[in-house]
Amino acid sequence: MDFKQNINKNKLPKHIAVIMDGNGRWARQRGKERIFGHENGVQAVRETVEAAGELGVRYLTFYAFSTENWCRPKKEIDTLMELLVKAIHNETPELMEKGVKLATIGDVDSLPEACRKELFDAIDKTKNNSRLTVTVAISYSSQWEIVNAVKNIARQVKENKIDPEDIDKKLFQTYLQTHGAPDPDLLIRTSGELRISNFMLWQVAYSELYFTPVLWPDFRKKHLYQAILDYQRRERRFGKT
Ligand code: FPP
Repeated sequence: MDFKQNINKNKLPKHIAVIMDGNGRWARQRGKERIFGHENGVQAVRETVEAAGELGVRYLTFYAFSTENWCRPKKEIDTLMELLVKAIHNETPELMEKGVKLATIGDVDSLPEACRKELFDAIDKTKNNSRLTVTVAISYSSQWEIVNAVKNIARQVKENKIDPEDIDKKLFQTYLQTHGAPDPDLLIRTSGELRISNFMLWQVAYSELYFTPVLWPDFRKKHLYQAILDYQRRERRFGKT
């Protein structure tokens, strides 16, 4: 079946968020270390970006590293960071060619200096691209983001710059790191886990959720097309009748 052909270009999700999961299991199935799964996950990221760009999706967000992931063994963290730096470095020319703008959300201050530098160099280089925005969530957790937003609003209240009565959904959103991007229409999680895992909790309030058993390193263009087709079959009501 030609999945791509069946996608309705007029009903594309504007923003797709992805929880990449299953790298460790994929590696274990092959008798290898977890990092082997992460290495192979990079190809899945590449294909997803390419497929989304070709279709005309405008925003793509990847959950690459959560605040909780800092509790993993140091060796895995270090290698994962190196992998991220390398991937960002190697992919920047391609991002430029394809008109992809890179962005990040998360506690970037907690990242190793080399990683931060490479990330911000790439963000700077790609800042004028506008075809597709790819956001990488690194050292991110939604609860961290929300607490931070609350702290910043509280500071403004303390300085009499915000009247508590004026705090509403719209104002709150402007204090989130995702400010400026539309909320995800579609959230994909791979590897069969049925959880949100502290990812964009505020932003996915009305997102369509799509879970697939495919492990992340195996995720290819056709899997993205399948997710989009599934999304297009759903009726979105946003709480209305
Ligand atoms: C989840 O699998 C995957 C991650 C925590 C890391 C994902 C990172 C990459 C694929 C690196 C490249 C990313 C970009 C954006 C260039 P897991 O380790 O939780 O797997 P498991 O649940 O099977 O143990």
